[in-house]
Amino acid sequence: MTDEYAVIGNPIEHSKSPQIHAAFARQTGQDIHYGFLLGDLEEFEADVDQFVANGGRGLNVTVPFKERAFRYADTLSGRAREAGAVNTLTFSDGGVHGDNTDGAGLVRDLTCNHRFQIEGARVLLLGAGGAVRGALRPLLDERPAALVIANRTADKALSLAAASAARGAVIGCGLDDLVGREFDLIINGTAAGLAAKVPAIPDECLADGGWTYDMLYASEPTAFVSWGRAHGAVRALDGLGMLVEQAAESFLLWRGVMPETASVIAALRTA
Ligand code: ATR
Repeated sequence: MTDEYAVIGNPIEHSKSPQIHAAFARQTGQDIHYGFLLGDLEEFEADVDQFVANGGRGLNVTVPFKERAFRYADTLSGRAREAGAVNTLTFSDGGVHGDNTDGAGLVRDLTCNHRFQIEGARVLLLGAGGAVRGALRPLLDERPAALVIANRTADKALSLAAASAARGAVIGCGLDDLVGREFDLIINGTAAGLAAKVPAIPDECLADGGWTYDMLYASEPTAFVSWGRAHGAVRALDGLGMLVEQAAESFLLWRGVMPETASVIAALRTA
C-alpha cells in the first residue's frame, strides 16, 4: 500500500517539497505519495489530526507552524528540543515524534555539497528567529573557531548564545557590534530577504576568501546573495541545497534510506 506524506504550511502552493520527495521516491523505489496541505491558521492541530486519522505516516511542517508542531509532538529529538521547533512529524503506533532537520540540511549542504570546512572557521549567523535556532546546534557540532549570532534586536541573540554556551564558542551581539570583526562564513537566517532587504552589517565583515550563505532561496539571486557577490564572497550560496538536504534528512527518518541529492538540486536549479 502506498504510504502518505505531505508538507503542511500556510501559504503552501509554491512549496517544492512534493517535487523533491517524488524524486527521492522514484530514485529509491519507495512506494510513497507526498502531497501538500494548506494548514488552517486557527485549526492546525485539527488538520494534523485529520491527516493522521486518514492513515498519514509523516508531515513536513513549514511556516508558520513549526512551533505548533513542536507542541503537538509526544516525543522530540534533541535537536528539535534545542531548536524549539519541529519540521518533521512521524506518526506511528508509538505516537507522534517531532524532529528538526533544517540545521542538518544546512550543514550537509555546506560541508558535503560545497566542501566548506566549518571546523576552525569564524562563522557569523545573522538573525535570532526559528531559522537560526534550528541551525545553532548542528553548526556548533562542526566545531567552528567562533560562532557569532548577531541580530537587529541584540537581546534575542544574547539569550540564544547564552542558552547554547555549553555547546561551544558562541557569542551573541547586535548588528552594530560587528564593526571591526571578520568572518570566513556569513549565514543569513533573518527574514529581511522576504522584503528584498539585507541586515545592516558592516561592509568589511567578510574576510578575504570568505563565503556567504542565504538560508532563503528564490529563482533570482536573493538580496543576500547579491550582497555576497558585491562584497567579494568566493561563493555566495542560496538555500536551495539546504531545502533539498533537509528534505533528504526527513526522507531518511521516515524511510530508512538516504536519497542522492545532487541530481535533485541540479534539476530544481535548471527548472
Ligand atoms: P523565522 O522563524 O523564519 O526565523 P522570525 O522568528 O520571525 O522568523 O525571525 C525573523 C528574524 O529576522 C529575526 O531575527 C528578525 O530580527 P528581530 O529579532 O530584530 O525582529 C530578523 N529580521 C527581519 N527583518 C529584518 C531586517 N530588515 N533586518 C535585519 N533583521 C531582520
